[in-house]
Amino acid sequence: MANRLSNKIAVVTGSGKGIGRAIAERFASEGARVVVCDIDAAAAISVAEGITASGGVAAGLQVDVSDKRSVEALVAASLQKFGRVDIVCNNAGVLDDFTPLGDVSDELWQRVIGINLTGAFMISRAFLPGMLGQGGGTFVNLASMAGLVAQAGGLAYTVSKHGVIGLTKQVSADYGPAGIRANAICPGAIETDLSRSFLQNSPEVLAVVESVPAGRQGRPAEIADLALYLASDESSFVHGASMVIDGGWTIR
Ligand SMILES: NC(=O)c1ccc[n+]([C@@H]2O[C@H](COP(=O)([O-])OP(=O)(O)OC[C@H]3O[C@@H](n4cnc5c(N)ncnc54)[C@H](O)[C@@H]3O)[C@@H](O)[C@H]2O)c1
Repeated sequence: MANRLSNKIAVVTGSGKGIGRAIAERFASEGARVVVCDIDAAAAISVAEGITASGGVAAGLQVDVSDKRSVEALVAASLQKFGRVDIVCNNAGVLDDFTPLGDVSDELWQRVIGINLTGAFMISRAFLPGMLGQGGGTFVNLASMAGLVAQAGGLAYTVSKHGVIGLTKQVSADYGPAGIRANAICPGAIETDLSRSFLQNSPEVLAVVESVPAGRQGRPAEIADLALYLASDESSFVHGASMVIDGGWTIR
């Protein structure tokens, strides 16, 4: 165990697998006590048990970030378990199968915006009062390169991730003076179930993804390293930033 997050309490949404899991495990390995939460309760509990077995401290909870009552229950359970929350990582997200405007159904729009953007908004709003009451806190929001450029997702995904960057900037502007920092991470293609879902049947898209300067997809652990920096006091002068970590995708 190292101690870059010692005495910190962290909540990571969607941490039952993928990038969120890597972030939760990295935070715990640096001394944070972590709320592992996911819509998949069994996955969250399993990740939390793994952290505990490795000598860390974690609780596995279920949450649907797109459901206000579920979000409120998560806040109450987190505070009951650990007393305070210093770091909130808005990671839960879903893809939209690269659907263009003309084919976006009401259901797809509601689902993608509801989880990726409204979810991040509701989680942030619900944890804010506790952070203000204790004099500070940090939000680390998973946006995407699709929050910066077009054609890295479909319409709803791109809109949702642009929104996450707006959320991040406005929270920074409004609450930075109160000791609250918010920053966004903009990953390129990272090897998880989410990317596998559209890459496994598309060799031509995989070739595009791997034509970035790095020559490969990223790994969840590489995103966790950046999340750790943004969650820790090492990034104390970083407010409202959108940090690109994409193997060079967006330089083209
Ligand atoms: N993988 C990539 O290439 C990539 C690139 C850029 C950004 N991102 C972003 O990173 C984040 C994590 O992506 P990933 O690749 O690890 O995805 P993933 O599909 O591997 O994991 C996402 C997790 O979120 C959970 N989840 C889904 N809906 C939820 C809800 N309503 N409430 C709570 N949890 C929910 C899922 O159960 C799952 O455990 C997402 O916000 C995604 O948009 C991923």
